Amino acid sequence: MNNPIYPVIWQNDAAVLIDQTQIPATYTTIAITDYEQMAQAIKTMIVRGAPAIGVAAAYGMYLGARSIETSDRATFLTQLEAIAERLRATRPTAVNLFWAIARMLKVAQSTVAPVEQIKAALLETAQAIQADDLRTCQQIGDYGLQALPDLPEKLRILTHCNAGALATAGYGTALGVIRSAWSAGRLERVFADETRPRLQGAKLTAWECVQEGIPVTVITDNMAAHCMQQGVIHAVVVGADRIAANGDTANKIGTYSVALAAKAHNIPFFVAAPLSTIDFSLADGRQIPIEQRNPTEIYQVGETRLCPTGAEFYNPAFDVTPAHLIAAIITEFGAIAPAQLKATLAEKQAV
Ligand code: MRU
Repeated sequence: MNNPIYPVIWQNDAAVLIDQTQIPATYTTIAITDYEQMAQAIKTMIVRGAPAIGVAAAYGMYLGARSIETSDRATFLTQLEAIAERLRATRPTAVNLFWAIARMLKVAQSTVAPVEQIKAALLETAQAIQADDLRTCQQIGDYGLQALPDLPEKLRILTHCNAGALATAGYGTALGVIRSAWSAGRLERVFADETRPRLQGAKLTAWECVQEGIPVTVITDNMAAHCMQQGVIHAVVVGADRIAANGDTANKIGTYSVALAAKAHNIPFFVAAPLSTIDFSLADGRQIPIEQRNPTEIYQVGETRLCPTGAEFYNPAFDVTPAHLIAAIITEFGAIAPAQLKATLAEKQAV
């Protein structure tokens, strides 16, 4: 295995991010030293992918906390809430952002100690969120391996967007399952949808696979159904940005079409995601907020405008795949049928 990829690391009193807007052309890192910089990095997708955004927001909360100049606990907590609000306003769909911020606020509110000690507890919590996510991804990889179809040949797995190390604390969710399948000798190759308009598949998933020596074929998004029809794909594994209580799953735009095509071809469609991506406060996927992004992402490539002026554009960043299209949701507690999500996790005392 090559050097592991960590999209966020805590180093020299800063959160150091891999600049994901530059991959694969250039590998650069950016040291983030205040919460406003972190909010900008999340909004502009320097760091992206639901669990990675959660880890980044947790460090953002600490960076904000450390800049608060008061020894009065109540004043500190009021100012910290304003920082939380700024970070929450960056991206609406990935629930890990809100989950991580809530966890950080809870620690601050429940630490009855001088402000300096609360700040120290917040750094420890951000580091714990990061370490937990890494461990969780490895567990998802193990459970995913067991859930994959047991075929005599090696598997060809399609994925959409990037749910790899870059999108988590490391290792990945969907790509974690694929990594585990590769290590176990059960993978022939990955098919990576390019994932218009931001090309996370073509740029990030393909880059991660190449780094690790995992055979990868990039296809344009409109080729997935054809590949399934040709018998090229054995299983689909994707990540998630928010999963409602009934298993409806928001993930990168285009995921729903892949799930429909998989159903039509009787190919199992799996979602791989940690508990921190499940939002039990939402009964179903209709309530998941869908981020609308700038139309330039559609009509412009680099400096070149593709579309005529006068056309209008619609650019939702995510869609919702209904639970009935999902064979199982692979979590750190096992692969669970969507309809059993709440009951199974309650049984395992996870919620
Ligand atoms: O807009 P992005 O790049 O943040 O969207 C990322 C995705 O949709 C991922 O598939 C999802 O967050 C899962 S990450 C493990």
